[in-house]
Amino acid sequence: MSSNEVEKHYSRGDLYQVIMDALSGAGIDIANLQPEDLEPIEHFHGRGVAATADLAASLALSPSDEVLDIGSGIGGPARYIVRSFGCRVVGIDLTAEFCDVARRLTDAVGLSGKVEFQQASATDLPFDDGRFHAAYSQNVSMNIADKAAMFGEAHRVLRPGGSFALSEIALGDGGPVIYPTPWSEDGVHSHLLTESETVEALRQSGFEIVSVQDNVSATGQFLDAQREAVARDGAPKLGPFILMGDNAKEKGRNTAQNIEEGRARPIEILCRRA
Ligand SMILES: C[S@@+](CC[C@H](N)C(=O)[O-])C[C@H]1O[C@@H](n2cnc3c(N)ncnc32)[C@H](O)[C@@H]1O
Repeated sequence: MSSNEVEKHYSRGDLYQVIMDALSGAGIDIANLQPEDLEPIEHFHGRGVAATADLAASLALSPSDEVLDIGSGIGGPARYIVRSFGCRVVGIDLTAEFCDVARRLTDAVGLSGKVEFQQASATDLPFDDGRFHAAYSQNVSMNIADKAAMFGEAHRVLRPGGSFALSEIALGDGGPVIYPTPWSEDGVHSHLLTESETVEALRQSGFEIVSVQDNVSATGQFLDAQREAVARDGAPKLGPFILMGDNAKEKGRNTAQNIEEGRARPIEILCRRA
C-alpha cells in the first residue's frame, strides 16, 4: 500500500472542527484554550499522556536541545516535550491534515514559537545530517514497511551520541492481529515486527540499544482503569477515539483484545547513535 493510502487512512477532512466541537461539548471554552485542555485527545496512542511522559523522559532532554518528532500526529507529544523540557521540537508527519491541525492547535494554545510541523515521510526526512540532539517516534513504525529507511533516516539526522526513543506495537505470539486497529483498517498497511526484529533493524541502521521496555502490563492496568471509569461515569466525551473515524470503538476494542491476548505487544526502545 502506498504512503498516499496511509495518509487517507488517517485523514478525516474536518478534523479541526470535530475536535473543537468535542471540546465545546465537554464544556471547554475554546476561545480561551489552554494546553492541558487538549491532553485527553492529542496523544494518539495507548495510555495517553502517561505513555508520552514515559517515552519523553527516557531522552533526558535539556532546554537547549532540538528534538525531531517523527510521525507527530496532531502534535500532542511535541507540545508535551516543549512544555515539559523547554526545548525546541520539529514534528514531521505524512498526513497533511494532521500537520495542519497540529499547527492550528499549537497556535490556539500559544506554543507556536517553540514547535513547528512539516509534512514529510519518516523514510525521507527533509533535514541535514546530524542536525538534531534527539529523535522521538511514538506508535508510527507500524505503518512503515521499510524499517531500514525509517531507522536509517533517524540515525542520519541525529548528532553523534544523540538518542532515539521509539515506541510501537510489536507482534506477539498470541495469534494473528485482529483488525481494524487505530493504524490499519484491514492489515494491508500494517507492518509489525517482533521486538527482536525491531531491535535487530535498529542495530543494522547503526544504533546502539540502550534499553527495551515491555509496556504490556502498564497497558493492561490502563485498560482496566478505563473500563472502571466508563462503568462508573459513562463513556468519556473526549479521547483519541475522536481522531479515529466512525469505527473508533471497534478499533479500541480490538486493540485491547490484541494486547490482552498477546497478539500485539506495546514496547518502547531507547537507542543511541554511536
Ligand atoms: C497512531 S498515530 C501516532 C501520532 C503521534 N505520534 C502520537 O503518538 O500522538 C500514527 C501517525 O504516524 C503517521 N505516519 C504513518 N506513516 C508515516 C510515515 N511514513 N512518515 C511519517 N508519518 C507517518 C500518521 O500520519 C499518524 O499521524
